[in-house]
Amino acid sequence: MQTHEIRKRFLDHFVNAGHTEVPSASVILDDPNLLFVNAGMVQFVPYFLGARTPPWDRAVSIQKCIRTPDIDEVGITTRHNTFFQMAGNFSFGDYFKKGAIEFAWSLLTNPVEQGGYGFDPEKLWATVYLDDDEAIGYWQEVAGLPLERIQRRGMADNYWSMGIPGPCGPSSEIYYDRGPDYGIEGGPEANEDRYIEIWNLVFMQNERGEGTSKENFEILGPLPRKNIDTGMGIERVACLLQGVDNVYETDLLRPAIDLMAARAPRGYGQGNHADDVRYRIIADHSRTAAIIIGDGISPGNEGRGYVLRRLLRRIIRAAKLLGIEDAFMADLMATVRDATGPSYPELVNDFDRISRIAVAEEAAFNRTLASGSRLFEDAARATKATGASRLSGSDAFTLHDTYGFPLELTLEMAAEADLGVDEEGFRALMAEQRQRAKADAAARKQAHTDLSAYRELVDAGPTEFTGFDELTTEARILGIFVDGKRVPVVSHAGREGVHERVELILDRSPFYAESGGQIADEGHISGTGSSEAAKAAVTDVQKIAKTLWAHRINVESGEFVEGDTVIAAVDPQWRRGATQGHSGTHMVHAALRQVLGPGAVQAGSLNRPGYLRFDFNFQGALSDEQRAQVEEVTNEAVQADFEVHTFHEKLEKAKAMGAMAMFGESYPDEVRVVEIGGPFSLELCGGTHVGRSAQIGPVTILGESSVGSGVRRVEAYVGLDSFRHLAKERALMAGLASSLKVPSDEVPARVATLVERLRAAEKELDRMRLATARAAAVNAAAGAEQIGGVRLVAQRMAGGISAGDLRSLVGDIRGKLGSDPAVVALIAEADDDAVPFVVSVNPAAQDRGLRANDLITVLGGAVNGRGGGKADLAQGSGRGAAGIDAALEALRAEIGRS
Ligand code: SER
Repeated sequence: MQTHEIRKRFLDHFVNAGHTEVPSASVILDDPNLLFVNAGMVQFVPYFLGARTPPWDRAVSIQKCIRTPDIDEVGITTRHNTFFQMAGNFSFGDYFKKGAIEFAWSLLTNPVEQGGYGFDPEKLWATVYLDDDEAIGYWQEVAGLPLERIQRRGMADNYWSMGIPGPCGPSSEIYYDRGPDYGIEGGPEANEDRYIEIWNLVFMQNERGEGTSKENFEILGPLPRKNIDTGMGIERVACLLQGVDNVYETDLLRPAIDLMAARAPRGYGQGNHADDVRYRIIADHSRTAAIIIGDGISPGNEGRGYVLRRLLRRIIRAAKLLGIEDAFMADLMATVRDATGPSYPELVNDFDRISRIAVAEEAAFNRTLASGSRLFEDAARATKATGASRLSGSDAFTLHDTYGFPLELTLEMAAEADLGVDEEGFRALMAEQRQRAKADAAARKQAHTDLSAYRELVDAGPTEFTGFDELTTEARILGIFVDGKRVPVVSHAGREGVHERVELILDRSPFYAESGGQIADEGHISGTGSSEAAKAAVTDVQKIAKTLWAHRINVESGEFVEGDTVIAAVDPQWRRGATQGHSGTHMVHAALRQVLGPGAVQAGSLNRPGYLRFDFNFQGALSDEQRAQVEEVTNEAVQADFEVHTFHEKLEKAKAMGAMAMFGESYPDEVRVVEIGGPFSLELCGGTHVGRSAQIGPVTILGESSVGSGVRRVEAYVGLDSFRHLAKERALMAGLASSLKVPSDEVPARVATLVERLRAAEKELDRMRLATARAAAVNAAAGAEQIGGVRLVAQRMAGGISAGDLRSLVGDIRGKLGSDPAVVALIAEADDDAVPFVVSVNPAAQDRGLRANDLITVLGGAVNGRGGGKADLAQGSGRGAAGIDAALEALRAEIGRS
């Protein structure tokens, strides 16, 4: 059965049973604690927690999931994927254990002709949480499973949570027995490769807090209702129903293996296990990478970008180790598109961008590999020169850490060079690094706010935002928090100089809470009636659980009491600036797309009064001309004084109108659309905007830079800040013109002339310096010392002489000393405390056993330096002019001994 058929049967089965089909969320949800969506239930968390009322009691979805903690298992086991499709049915306070077991069992075992998957019931096993006798009873009653095919397992296996605070509960898993070829008998408890998990039914009934592992976390208490969350692995079911050995050989991933096998010297399935694993890694990772890029991530050095980079690099290395030398990424991505596109049309629609990003990373990594190979060759040569037979652990670590060489690649290259590798040393360094990373991650976790204190208010309902229509609103204080703890009163007295986070939660607020790239409004909250004296400055506003506005304040006078009525007033000037910044961002976005084409997709933004920053996907830097054009198009549109029109629309309809949505954002069914100048700019956006585009004022683009592979950033000033920036530049120019004593427009020519003259003067200075040195050299030759029949010129030279000049001076002097035994040694004092030195020994002195390369070592010893060369000429460099006299003395002594 093909994968699309497996998906369709799942959806049909549950839709027929009254479930609403909900589309997959992006793999990136707005939760800093979750790198990627890793389960079907993630988008439903607020429904489970009771923070929001679900629009349906029953839902079904097939969610894109990413799990990378087991990345090293990929290809080695038969069942690990970094991307997989989780098919799930959900009950929000509707059916529970019995219903979940009935639905799953019937879909799995119903004959194929009747819409089921037709699994042989005799081959199915179930596991339950330790004390879940109820579930055991249903497995017997509903499915007729005998007790010997039901196993009890502990928390690590049968108690499910997202790994972070949130909903959780005991689970029951369904396994399929693949038979003795895959391992020993004894059920899932004995062997999870033979008994392969296909479906997890979670009886979602509790809420968990922080914890340290799968088995160790606090259970905070029961959820408001008992729910069902299930997850069936489409890939694993496909593997079983298609009768293939592992998840990498299904109709979805096999094409990528075949593509690569056709290009590699050794094929797939030829009995070389290491090769087979590499093919599977490529097939698995390429699909994951395409999905992640599709949802708006570019390769980078941290967070999601790093995961993506790692996946792409593992693909490229695996291909190298398979012996594939030519670029292949573009074809690989096309294969992924063809296999995955039918289920994920975004991979088809957005293919050019996805492929471009993957190919750019391939090219970049190939360059890194090339420089890594050079480092390897140097390290190998140095290792051999010292007579060692193993490359050091630290070399292997540098290759891994800086150049992304996996140990196996280093091992292979070392073997080709007849060297081993100190693997133990390498592992010790890796362990150290992991330890550091863990400590970092632990430190970051601490920063995560504990939201449980706000739960009651979150449950009571959202803050009403009034700020689209007014800047001053009368509101009631629903809660006061100091450093995350709820308090009844907060007063000014005794607070001076105390650093605390004081927050007010109001029932309504005109303050914009930071979101969608726009930073929060600033302003004041003041008391009314008997608490008129209370006044606080609002310094930040953040959303809690997406629905509650937390106003961070500094209490300036009086006191605020829960239940008080207050006046919340946004600073109008601040808001004007903020609207200019946000509308300006839309204008720059539209202008970028007009100038660079539709590939310039938004990757992030930030705006505050007077300033904006906009990140977008684009390969390579913008030319000066493109930059100027973007600025021109933006300002023309500002000048056109377009009307800014906002309205609400159904998500699908808004998208069909061409409204730009942000990748990775999840949007509700009905969205707010901001339109500026009709087709000029149309975006889904919840921000605050100017009424007409001319109110944005001038837009000045400050610069354009790279913020990661394939992502560029423009920054700009708007409004008065833009004007001030220009005024500052004008003042600078006026200052320059006046010191150069020319009109402004002649400044560039003047500066060019000055630079040229400066260069000429420097050249002249160098020439004179050398001439002086030469003259000194002639004198030096005349005053050569005699040490035991050798004529010696050993001199300290004044500063500013380069090593090259020293060499030529040494030659000059030696020429003047004639053919008797002679040695010339010069040491220069350079400005930065470097001490270059050169020694020359003529043939007659060489006959007496003197060698320039020996003498250079003698000199170097006294000035912390080293050098090398041949018998007649050697040079070196040291540090510390203080040792020069001692160096020359040592040289004299050495010659005296000859
Ligand atoms: N949340 C559970 C899992 O991910 C079931 O969907 O396995």
